[in-house]
Amino acid sequence: MASSSSTPAATVACAVVAEAVVDTEDAVDRGREDDVQYSLKLGLQQPARADASDAVAAALWEPTDIQAWAVLILNTADPERKVALTRRGAALWQAGQLASPPPRFSQESDCRHAREPTPDRPARADGMMVVGPHEMKIGKGGTAASRVAILHSLANIEQFAIDLAWDIIARFGEAPLADGKVLPRGFFDDFVRVAVDEAHHYELLSGRLRALGSAFGALPVHHGLWQSAGETAADLKARLAVVHMVHEARGLDVTPQTIERLRRNGDPTSADMLQIIYEEEIGHVTAGMTWFRHVTAAESPGVDPIRLFHEVVRAHFRGPLKPPFNDAARAQAGFTPEWYLPLAA
Ligand SMILES: [Fe+2]
Ligand SMILES: [Fe+2]
Repeated sequence: MASSSSTPAATVACAVVAEAVVDTEDAVDRGREDDVQYSLKLGLQQPARADASDAVAAALWEPTDIQAWAVLILNTADPERKVALTRRGAALWQAGQLASPPPRFSQESDCRHAREPTPDRPARADGMMVVGPHEMKIGKGGTAASRVAILHSLANIEQFAIDLAWDIIARFGEAPLADGKVLPRGFFDDFVRVAVDEAHHYELLSGRLRALGSAFGALPVHHGLWQSAGETAADLKARLAVVHMVHEARGLDVTPQTIERLRRNGDPTSADMLQIIYEEEIGHVTAGMTWFRHVTAAESPGVDPIRLFHEVVRAHFRGPLKPPFNDAARAQAGFTPEWYLPLAA
């Protein structure tokens, strides 16, 4: 393995990256003015305060590999900016303009030390009131306030879902599996696509909240979904099983009732929106299953992936899975009952 002392070219490259990271941190500190410039750079609608200098935009740094993009987005507190960066990073990835995984065994591998580490938890905007998951008061959609609370709660989940899609890329994307092979491009393709979907979902819900006279951030939120991220932070199989199969499939179970509730209570617009989200979520369970099978084959050849799934979920997910299950939607994702029924209450 090359070291920085024996590879001047790598040392120079690392210095550039390190300065760029500092630029990014400063840019984040500059806050709203950069949001204006970054929105302009991304071709988004111009926000109200467009008075920052062009020099600020010119100083902005864009990562050149997908893991660094993922970390940048996880460290972005403003959800609108998180959405914009998700679209930008995804577009670069899909255009083949980002590297992955970064070369681990070349001169440039030393530069990994200059990259910001994957944060334990994603950044969140100041001023949000955070409560425990069981303290959330949502209601059943019978009043306008209750419908806003439902949409607000879902927007919070979608913001975490954006972060979860990037976190699996940041945290696990460059480590070789037990068979010595790195994750193939398809892994990144899938989770970048999931991140774009989740950004779309957040945007739909936050826009709907505004249309209803509220806004994301107006109500308390909880961080319960990130508990599973922490629980599975050291094990890709567990992350895929718990977050991208158990939790994503739970969304398929409960969303039809929420859609029905919104429709019955006179909000067909929100109901139609959730229908779009629901249909896109099926593919997220498929992504979880695809890569759970891949990792099982690489790390535990010959082991039945369903049996391993049961072991992993029992080890990393508290309590049994809650019926009733949406068998039809789960089956569309390839998630058939032999995977989840043995784990049910
Ligand atoms: Fe979503
Ligand atoms: Fe999802």
